[in-house]
Amino acid sequence: MAIPRVTATVDLSAIRHNLGRVRALAPQSKVMAAIKADGYGHGAVPVARTLAEAGVDAFAVACLEEAVTLRDAGIGTRIALLEGVLSREEALEAAALGLEIVIHDRWQLELLAGLAFETPLAVWFKLDSGMHRLGFPLAEAGALLKAALAQPQWRLQGWITHLACADDLDSPMTAAQIDAFKATMAYLPGARSIANSAGLIAWPQARVDWVRPGLMLYGASPLPGRTAADLDLKPAMQVASRLIAVHEIAAGETVGYGATYRCPETMRVGVVAVGYADGVHRILPTGAPVLIHGVRVPMIGRVSMDMITVDLRALPQAAVGDPVILWGDGLPAEEVATWAGTLAYELFCGLTNRVHYRYL
Ligand SMILES: Cc1ncc(COP(=O)(O)O)c(C=O)c1O
Repeated sequence: MAIPRVTATVDLSAIRHNLGRVRALAPQSKVMAAIKADGYGHGAVPVARTLAEAGVDAFAVACLEEAVTLRDAGIGTRIALLEGVLSREEALEAAALGLEIVIHDRWQLELLAGLAFETPLAVWFKLDSGMHRLGFPLAEAGALLKAALAQPQWRLQGWITHLACADDLDSPMTAAQIDAFKATMAYLPGARSIANSAGLIAWPQARVDWVRPGLMLYGASPLPGRTAADLDLKPAMQVASRLIAVHEIAAGETVGYGATYRCPETMRVGVVAVGYADGVHRILPTGAPVLIHGVRVPMIGRVSMDMITVDLRALPQAAVGDPVILWGDGLPAEEVATWAGTLAYELFCGLTNRVHYRYL
């Protein structure tokens, strides 16, 4: 039987624990768990099953296809399509699957208003409180309510807005967005939803009827300067490969493509069976850490498609076959992401279909 080169081990009990953290922070709020992008690379179906069993109130996905995957797997929980639908056909399929459609733009309103649905259609409106990505201007909320009430088959669920800078505790923007949204909502019926992970952790006033956490459910910190452990979040994913060669390379010789790393002394160099075709970012520089036997050792030279090379001087006992952790327990994805100039979100979503998944 083939041995998987790269394994992402996902601890579903960590995801349950992290949902508990959401509940503890926002006990009055319903939870719409963001499981788009295949559950942030953790596997949408097993994540959804875990969260559904734990009583999550709804899921948020980006598009119809992601919702169909969940329904096909027998997930009956409420599911909202964060970007709504792209066509009449999608709208009818979404309605038939009992999905909830977010309407973020006038063209979607017109598309849906022209359709007859056999069963009531659950809709949310997305309002733009300042991020200026998706959503109607706040000033149009009253007109949107009228438009919804004019459609007898629509069931207005509520109003969503999204925070641009919730991870920046010094930014005045978040409080301004929340205040503006709440002022608009004061006299309108329907549920309100503001907070992503950073919003619900750092901005108590954003914990309204619904919260929409994503990243924190997977056990990564959304706040720079605060670790997952600080926030009592448990990382759910560990990505590991193994050493497939260990060489002694002479002082002055170079390692890897472009000969970018020159050995300062005669040293042991390990080759790990993982590369950018698995989701290790090619931009990771010499010095970025991996974990072998619980010890951080630096990557050296360039990341190639299927391999990376590491400096084993700190680990004389390291041998072919030893496990190498790319991120997980002892090496937070947030830290690796910083080395790559990105966020844990992108590391998680960037794992490719070459990675073998194992669920605990
Ligand atoms: C509209 C919306 N709500 C909630 C989330 C969840 O955000 P986070 O993963 O930062 O908690 C996202 C993710 O990008 C989103 O786009």
